[in-house]
Amino acid sequence: PELSRSPQGDFMRPAIRTRKSSNTNGVGVQVEDTRICVVMVGLPARGKSLIAQKVVRYLGWLSISARCFNVGSYRRTNTPQPNASFFDTSNKEGERLRKAAAEAAVADMIVWFKSPKNLIAILDATNSTKARRRWIKDRCDSEGIETLFVESKCDEEDLIMSNIIEVKTTSPDYCGQDPEEAAKDFRERIRMYERVYETLDEDEQDLTYCKIINVGSQVIINRIQDYLQSRVVYYLMNLHIKPRSIWISRHGESMFNVSGQIGGDADLSPRGFRYASELPALVRNSAGDAPLTVWTSTLKRTAQTAAHLPYEKLSWKALDELDSGVCDGLTYADIEQQYPADFAARDADKYNYRYLGGESYRDVVIRLEPIIMELERSENILIVTHQAVLRCIYAYFMGSNQEQSPWMEVPLHCLIRLTPRAYKTEEERMFADVPAVSTWREKGSKAVHADTPEHSRRGSPSIVGMKKEGAAK
Ligand code: ADP
Ligand code: F6P
Ligand code: PEP
Repeated sequence: PELSRSPQGDFMRPAIRTRKSSNTNGVGVQVEDTRICVVMVGLPARGKSLIAQKVVRYLGWLSISARCFNVGSYRRTNTPQPNASFFDTSNKEGERLRKAAAEAAVADMIVWFKSPKNLIAILDATNSTKARRRWIKDRCDSEGIETLFVESKCDEEDLIMSNIIEVKTTSPDYCGQDPEEAAKDFRERIRMYERVYETLDEDEQDLTYCKIINVGSQVIINRIQDYLQSRVVYYLMNLHIKPRSIWISRHGESMFNVSGQIGGDADLSPRGFRYASELPALVRNSAGDAPLTVWTSTLKRTAQTAAHLPYEKLSWKALDELDSGVCDGLTYADIEQQYPADFAARDADKYNYRYLGGESYRDVVIRLEPIIMELERSENILIVTHQAVLRCIYAYFMGSNQEQSPWMEVPLHCLIRLTPRAYKTEEERMFADVPAVSTWREKGSKAVHADTPEHSRRGSPSIVGMKKEGAAK
């Protein structure tokens, strides 16, 4: 028998509501076919590129096709290493080259929007004058593209200085130069911009905008028009830049893990309980005395795993394991035998495959969105959850692609620390000295039902970057 009987294989796809054109990119949320250009506004070193990168990653995670057009990268093709005087508005040649870079970025963006699946572009530049913003709006209007201006305004000197040191002195604009000289020149560059900078104000009330002041201590929004715009704005309102980490772990080995069954609500195995006893020390070694909140699912095995952790705890239904529907309680071998077509269909497209009466990875991502939003608002969080859910959360932070993320190996009894930095998320894996069965099954294979091999438990720390475009600012 087969589990899924849709002739088009539509069992994989949640509903998409489209209006003018048919948008079949598999967006799991209700998205109309509006195209939006998010226009960043602000002086240099105000976090514009960082915000742009995060928005692209967030939307990509939700299968909303988004791309950043960074004007600085275009400008580098004509002027790779300008000094501050290049940005002096009385420097006619500098002005001409900067306008040319902006025009090239906008032209590429318009071409990119010709593809109906592409929905949100971010124009990442200073766009610091009213004239420049009006020009962009007119260009977009004539192409039927909505504009959403996002200004980051910040006058906290210490923060700006640390931004310059953290990201600007390593910019390709200053490659090979002394960091102190680079920082000095960059401050001078900012002064050039300050002379002409115009914040979004009452003259621009016809624009749709969101003005983020001092990293969100105040947010002003104007004329937000539709669902997708409000979604982007809501995300922006939840961002903060306080340093923090997110720790994630699967629950300890469960009785179902031992028998190779999926789903269910089993207790921990004796080795799983040992992991639960060792987890507090593993966490303390990594987090020290930092305050933490623990999030678990509503299933017994995560609560049992978190039982000895001396922190405030919260349980979330949204963190429950991917629902395997009619296959709940079966082993992979049972599924292959009883539902061979589904077993193969899942291997062919694991992200989209939805168990009959259950969920797909795509479904899990959609239900995790409030968790991601809350994570963006929060500081240190430790999440004790399940294999598939952990892969989805990891994919958000690492920008992993949908084809690979459902296959990622996440051994049991391993604590992962993710630390968001300016343009990348650092990762560190720590293993408890408690063996556990492997629940990982390679694509196209039967499950190897044995303890996780030593080489998988020796996970060396890796640093996986977000797209580096922003880092080149
Ligand atoms: P810009 O693109 O405005 O020149 P970047 O994105 O390159 O600036 O700067 C990144 C730095 O800005 C990071 O160190 C980040 O922590 C910081 N940052 C992020 N958001 C903000 C904000 N809203 N205001 C000021 N700085 C921010
Ligand atoms: O085997 C443990 C488990 O958490 C199951 O409950 C769940 O169905 C499975 O992993 C998810 O992993 P995959 O998507 O690789 O089958
Ligand atoms: C740049 O040249 O680095 C840049 C961002 O240009 P603009 O000020 O025109 O946005």
